Amino acid sequence: MSITKESELIGMKKISEVVGTTLKLMRAYAKVGMSTKELDEYGGEILKRYGAKSAPYETYGFPGYTCISINKEAAHGIPSKNKILKEGDLINIDVSAELNGFWSDNGGSFVLGKDIHNHQPLVDASKNILRKAINHIKGGVKISEIGYLIETEAKKSGFKVIKNLAGHGVGRSLHEAPENILNYRVKSNRERFKKNTTVAIETFISTISTVAVELNDGWTLVGNKGGYVTQHEQTILVTDTYPVILTEANDIWN
Ligand code: CO
Ligand code: CO
Repeated sequence: MSITKESELIGMKKISEVVGTTLKLMRAYAKVGMSTKELDEYGGEILKRYGAKSAPYETYGFPGYTCISINKEAAHGIPSKNKILKEGDLINIDVSAELNGFWSDNGGSFVLGKDIHNHQPLVDASKNILRKAINHIKGGVKISEIGYLIETEAKKSGFKVIKNLAGHGVGRSLHEAPENILNYRVKSNRERFKKNTTVAIETFISTISTVAVELNDGWTLVGNKGGYVTQHEQTILVTDTYPVILTEANDIWN
């Protein structure tokens, strides 16, 4: 959305702090032996306490308050009492919600406990690439330029990007223009980031797959060639210089 007055910035800051804090607390709460349903309900309670509404649950009819994707699940994993967290699991939590008509979106991947499956390099690549991408965004920068940066940095780290998942405008709804802030360059896309707009920037860094495909449950996405995918996502305010990271309460850099 385009921020035109102070009250809109305050609204975006508030909901961004709520989803950021929820993500941070959920990550700290995740323990070996816990089901993803239990973790999701904990997150749902935090959102409720703030008076915020889970975007996937309220708007998209998703069977959970947050998306929790484990190991080979790339995104939109459904919380379940049958999915029990294990040492070394690659976990992605994505929290998006609405408060007072403002929407914000954030997510992060991490390794639970000891990294016995060596997922950390993929997690670190995703984190570092998101940070680098965000630092390059300001009013006037082409969206395709950021796609190129993400793709190039992924390659340098020995990884690939998922081509059919993307960052997006956010604010008055969860997904709004610009709708496709892709992780690779589409040369024909001449769209540029605009000053004073809020957008969700997200990485989808992958070991072998380049396309996310949906499972029969109608939600869960996995890589077309298998392997693992990591995602980190921040909602930011585009400015003339460095963006303001509205969801930084999530602490996903650490
Ligand atoms: Co998003
Ligand atoms: Co998200």
